[in-house]
Amino acid sequence: MSLVEAPPAIGAGIDRVDGARKTAGAAAYPSDFDVHGQAHAALLQSTVAAGRITAIDTAEAEAAPGVLTVITHRNTPRLPDGPATDIGTSPPAPLQDERILHHGQHVAVVVAETREQAVAATRLIKVTYDASEPVTRFDDPRAERVDDPWGMDSERGAVEEALASADVKVSATYTTPDNTNNPLGLFATLAVWDRNTLTVHDTTQWPTMARATLAKVFDVPESAVRVLAPYVGGAFGSGLRVWQHVILTVLAARMTGRPVKLVLTRPQMFTSVGHRPSGVQHITIGAKRSGELVAIDHRSTSSVAMEDDDFEPLAASSAVAYACPSVITRDGQVRLNISNPTSMRAPAEGQGNFALESAFDELAHTLGIDPLELRLRNYAERHPVSGMPWSSKALRECYEAGAERFGWSRRDPAPRSMRDGDELIGYGMAGVGYPWYAVPCRARATVNADGSAFVRSAATDIGTGTYTVMTQVSADVLGIALDRVRFDLGDSDMPPSPQAGGSGLTGALATAVRDACLGVVRRVLDLVSEDAGSPLRGCALEDVIVGNGRIHRRDRPDEGESYADILTRHGRQEMTVDGASAPGDPSALGMAFAGAFGAKFVEVRVDADLGVIRVARVVSAIDGGRILNEKTARSQIIGGTVGGIGQALFEETVTDARTGRIANATFGDYLIPVNADVADLDVLFVGEPDRATPLGTKGVGEIGLVGVAAAIANAVHHATGIRIRSLPITLDELL
Ligand code: MOS
Repeated sequence: MSLVEAPPAIGAGIDRVDGARKTAGAAAYPSDFDVHGQAHAALLQSTVAAGRITAIDTAEAEAAPGVLTVITHRNTPRLPDGPATDIGTSPPAPLQDERILHHGQHVAVVVAETREQAVAATRLIKVTYDASEPVTRFDDPRAERVDDPWGMDSERGAVEEALASADVKVSATYTTPDNTNNPLGLFATLAVWDRNTLTVHDTTQWPTMARATLAKVFDVPESAVRVLAPYVGGAFGSGLRVWQHVILTVLAARMTGRPVKLVLTRPQMFTSVGHRPSGVQHITIGAKRSGELVAIDHRSTSSVAMEDDDFEPLAASSAVAYACPSVITRDGQVRLNISNPTSMRAPAEGQGNFALESAFDELAHTLGIDPLELRLRNYAERHPVSGMPWSSKALRECYEAGAERFGWSRRDPAPRSMRDGDELIGYGMAGVGYPWYAVPCRARATVNADGSAFVRSAATDIGTGTYTVMTQVSADVLGIALDRVRFDLGDSDMPPSPQAGGSGLTGALATAVRDACLGVVRRVLDLVSEDAGSPLRGCALEDVIVGNGRIHRRDRPDEGESYADILTRHGRQEMTVDGASAPGDPSALGMAFAGAFGAKFVEVRVDADLGVIRVARVVSAIDGGRILNEKTARSQIIGGTVGGIGQALFEETVTDARTGRIANATFGDYLIPVNADVADLDVLFVGEPDRATPLGTKGVGEIGLVGVAAAIANAVHHATGIRIRSLPITLDELL
């Protein structure tokens, strides 16, 4: 039967549908948009990290060529705080008073006819500060502590007693620095007011939240705000919040009556669009001689800005990582004079897993048990807290398939025992999990009378492949060929979508897209329910199959008709239906939502004399549930792995403790992996479709990064016998 001739689109590793647009330069990123009559904004940032502005003289800047206005805290209206929308949090509204809370805080905005005039005029503003000594260190006695801000601390069993009776204990402290997300695309905002309606092009991972926040801050209905982000030049979490420069650009447009465009500079990206906060983690693990865990005690402190409610519970996921009777996790924060943080790829787990899986390696070494074997002995067959079966979990298969592909059995357990000429060879591994962020989502599907389809949602594609994967899902559910389906996104006027983040978008959006597309099929069947001549007359959704632009009877597959014929016969231009998805209730389903799992195997080569560390190869075995597109999913894992190599060996946002100033806010000074640092990255997918979502997906956005840092640190220990508990690992620590 012709219906099954076309191979299913889901699962196929097809090229990106937006690939040609991107390579031809036809994909417009936020900084590419210009409108007639636009003015340009430039920011002036604080040169002290704490204190207050005592005087600000803008007269010279205001008189400079082309300048339209200068905005400071003195002429900014009182704005409601951004953070308080129902769906997301953002830093406080900008320029509300004279206080300075961090170095690089925006203190003035110049709006001028050209960008050059605006930038030049910022240098004519004279700011006088009453500076105070900034709080920049965790151990500063003035630092305010915030314990368990989200109520996520956990405790089970009797940790103290278990540790006291353990045969073997390891206890250590791990530190991770500030990291900066550093997407390639400079963040840009173009704001256009037309009477009381606002259109904003913005670098965001979440147009729906940006719309809600801007509506609130500028006191207009959400329906009067449109946020557009058809293409985003990367973000890695930095587009999850509505940053102060966005609000300032919208404010500048309102105050000048002109469209206003602002593009951040690279150094401004380090202070204006978030960063992964630094953390200190203490872990104690107790075990029996056999390797059986008796207790885990994991406590973390991470940094947060003076005014912010962002939070990363670094230790929280240690409660569910292993079968262990007694576990305590505690997560807190200290407030520092630093810029507002944000999620950076694999928030919380990215850092927490480094500590847990490093400590696990230390335990394996102490016990004399192979690190992989130790993990298998403590495998959590069921959810360790609820006791329920996982919605899916193929971590064991990840361990086994990954070890096989990597050649783990060739590892000589003794540190410093494997050598190739001047190079010390180290094998290290880590096991990982990453939950997905389950949230409601909506989508809209249309089938046109010419047989083509148009499906959309206010989501974004931050380079992950959302355009492509949702085109595939739409094509399969409707039974319409891929090249006749268009999927569109990046517009808050489309049905509301969650963030492209937290590894949650694919699951939420694919379910909503499926629901909308099934709705279209159902409504088209409704159209023919009375059609005397239609073979589909009286058929319900369960009675039909789709393919090649047609709907056919399941019981008599030769009989059916095309969408085009049905719609045309009924005089319809199109059929449009909205769909939705909502996170299920795990306990009602009798299962624990699993998220993605993975096992990471790394070979490092360390120059015995110079300490230079090279990652020779990485094998990532991933349980991502049902993989919708093998090619884009693989790219996600490879990209995440590169991010993990950066976290392990290169990335550190260095803040001068005395001044609170970031000392390396350029691509020349902030190190990220380049091609020469990235060798052979191998990815294999294992596992089954997850039972908790209709399409069986689990997010793969973060799982590629998690575990890479621990596996590298463990490999460095195996190569050199030196245990590094502080990221990034640098060669001076190995000499
Ligand atoms: Mo990602 S940090 O969930 O954008």
